[in-house]
Amino acid sequence: MVTGGAGYIGSHACLALLESGCRVVSIDDLSRGHARAHGALSSLGGRNFVGHAVRIHDTDALARIMAEERIDAVLHFAAFAEVGESMEHPLRYAHNNVAGTLSVLQAMERAGVPRLVFSSSCATYGAPDPGLVPIREDCPQRPINPYGASKLFGERMILDQAAALHRSGKTFGCAMLRYFNVAGADPAGRLGEDHAPESHLIPICLQTALGQRPAVQVFGTDWPTPDGTCVRDYVHVSDLVRAHLAVLDALGPRDTRQYNVGIGRGFSVRECIDSVRRVTGIAIASVDGPRRPGDPPVLLADASRIRSELGWEPSFTDLDAIVASAWAWFHAHPRGWKG
Ligand code: WQD
Repeated sequence: MVTGGAGYIGSHACLALLESGCRVVSIDDLSRGHARAHGALSSLGGRNFVGHAVRIHDTDALARIMAEERIDAVLHFAAFAEVGESMEHPLRYAHNNVAGTLSVLQAMERAGVPRLVFSSSCATYGAPDPGLVPIREDCPQRPINPYGASKLFGERMILDQAAALHRSGKTFGCAMLRYFNVAGADPAGRLGEDHAPESHLIPICLQTALGQRPAVQVFGTDWPTPDGTCVRDYVHVSDLVRAHLAVLDALGPRDTRQYNVGIGRGFSVRECIDSVRRVTGIAIASVDGPRRPGDPPVLLADASRIRSELGWEPSFTDLDAIVASAWAWFHAHPRGWKG
């Protein structure tokens, strides 16, 4: 089962699972996911894919589908994931991300589903001391925005549930994957990123290249970084979902695992803008603006644990290649899943 399977990362996960021979059941309330993504996955997966338009807070429906479909693992992606929005609407994030994860856990317990891979975030670390960057999994988790806090509480609920189930002799293997900045699109052009409204840097740059925005606003040019703009670790969405499949294969009946998933290289806002200019051949305009509340200056992964334990390696390490995969989908789908 993939929650959020009609969304950006969830749909790419469904595709990777289908291609690895799994049968996939997607749950998505389509509030931010796209019915056309479910449609594309149905075309690609045939009888091995089914999409349900269900809210993750509908615990009864979730438990029933898990039992009826004999679900043996859940990949829980369904969440709101916008740092800026979470600063303006913290309770929206508590309800969707925390209460939503609670509902998934309750349904799994009722249906006896033994494995969970949780979509967590580097945002749980907050703004680590520079001496702790690149960030390892044992870095203190002190989120500085409600999005990161909601993911940290999700991790805590999962670990508490796992410990209780293990004490009662039940099997429950769980893994938290702390994503850094996910970008790019399916290299074969079958899926892409479509958020409405869009808040992420690279899609915003590409929408500017499409003429849908006059310019990209740079959120702060006075950060303690080489060029004064924030630095992020961009990991390709296909590499990210491969990490999910790797951990799913490795997950034991009483495992509790945490992995950072990033490429271990950082790119600044200005470098991302320059990359989009090179890839699209369009000199997109940028406007320097004030800092965005809730942003840390640098988020960079130390992904040595997932490399050594699971043998995961990113196949995309060049920013232009990541951007080019996103541009190919945006160019072919200027209105995203709306055609
Ligand atoms: C990137 C940088 C902005 C837009 C994301 C996800 C979150 C988590 C971490 C997985 C920041 C700057 C942005 C713009 C800008 N991933 N920016 N102008 O905030 O790092 O968080 O990755 O859990 O889910 O939200 O990503 O793309 O919003 O911002 O200058 O118009 O670009 O300030 O420094 P962020 P982002």
